Amino acid sequence: MNTSTTHRVLLTGGTGRLGTYLVRELRQRRLHSQIWSTGSPGFKDGIPVEHVDLLDVDHIAPAFQSFGPTLVIHAAAISTADACLANPVLAQRLNVDATKQLSDLCRLAGARLIYTSTDLVFDGRRGGYRECDPPSPVMVYGRSKAEAEPIVLQVAGNSVVRLSLLFGPKLGSRDSFFDLQWRAITMGDRRMKLFTDEWRTPIDYQTASRAVVEIALADTGGIWHVGGPERMSRWEMGERLARFLGQTPLMFEATNRDSIGGTEPRPEDVSLDSSRWRSQFAATDWPNYEEALRMIVSPLRS
Ligand SMILES: NC(=O)c1ccc[n+]([C@@H]2O[C@H](COP(=O)([O-])OP(=O)(O)OC[C@H]3O[C@@H](n4cnc5c(N)ncnc54)[C@H](OP(=O)(O)O)[C@@H]3O)[C@@H](O)[C@H]2O)c1
Repeated sequence: MNTSTTHRVLLTGGTGRLGTYLVRELRQRRLHSQIWSTGSPGFKDGIPVEHVDLLDVDHIAPAFQSFGPTLVIHAAAISTADACLANPVLAQRLNVDATKQLSDLCRLAGARLIYTSTDLVFDGRRGGYRECDPPSPVMVYGRSKAEAEPIVLQVAGNSVVRLSLLFGPKLGSRDSFFDLQWRAITMGDRRMKLFTDEWRTPIDYQTASRAVVEIALADTGGIWHVGGPERMSRWEMGERLARFLGQTPLMFEATNRDSIGGTEPRPEDVSLDSSRWRSQFAATDWPNYEEALRMIVSPLRS
């Protein structure tokens, strides 16, 4: 196995909500890394950023060969259900076609590919999903992510990390759902409707990014479910956050999935069973919701 000091890690999506946490994790581990972004070249937390548009198919191979990664953490995506629904062709090109191109390049170079996927590859009829459960997506977003997974898994050693709903403050420029909730509570700038009937196993960005990097550095590939220890609705998340901050959750309105209408169904229970990850990485912290909030909130208050 390559030790972490000999790895050359290519990170796509390093400017995104998860990606900025991955960057911090890579920097803390002093891994020799490079970030790809459609933005300007430069440095992020001391790690070089190259301008590479994953839709520019002719540019990917030369950029890949010029860095020569041994590990690729692929977190670039059209990452929201709304954006994928609004532009399914773009979702296909980035979430599926670009992933295939990266997968082919990795295979030829003998590099391992770690693909960040989602709990929304499931239809939500059952919950408690394990890695052996077949994907059954009901949304354009989940379909595009599910289509890319077997492409990645064709090569032994590659990993698909299915993440549950992520929470925590943004480190970059894109607001997270947590940022909206935080402002609703601390600034009273809005009332938010939160689903009471959609179940996830939310996990904070820091713990999730640590899991992704540890899985990337390990020998074993395959599918990994990485969610938090509790099954919760967005309503419960908001309510518990408000109470954690000593407030009554009057800024949140309980609502259900049907109330928003829309053309896509929303899965009811896509909670993940993370026992494979937990059994192989038992030493990694796995904070419950309030423990994660304690970790998240104190820097925000200082
Ligand atoms: N957030 C969640 O709750 C959650 C839950 C489960 C799974 N995930 C998965 O985690 C991953 C990251 O999600 P996220 O929420 O962090 O996404 P995000 O904040 O929307 O960031 C998307 C990233 O993709 C990059 N990107 C977009 N178009 C690109 C292109 N044409 N070429 C190169 N890069 C491009 C963006 O970089 P530039 O704009 O700099 O180019 C950005 O860094 C995704 O695979 C997502 O499916 C997220």
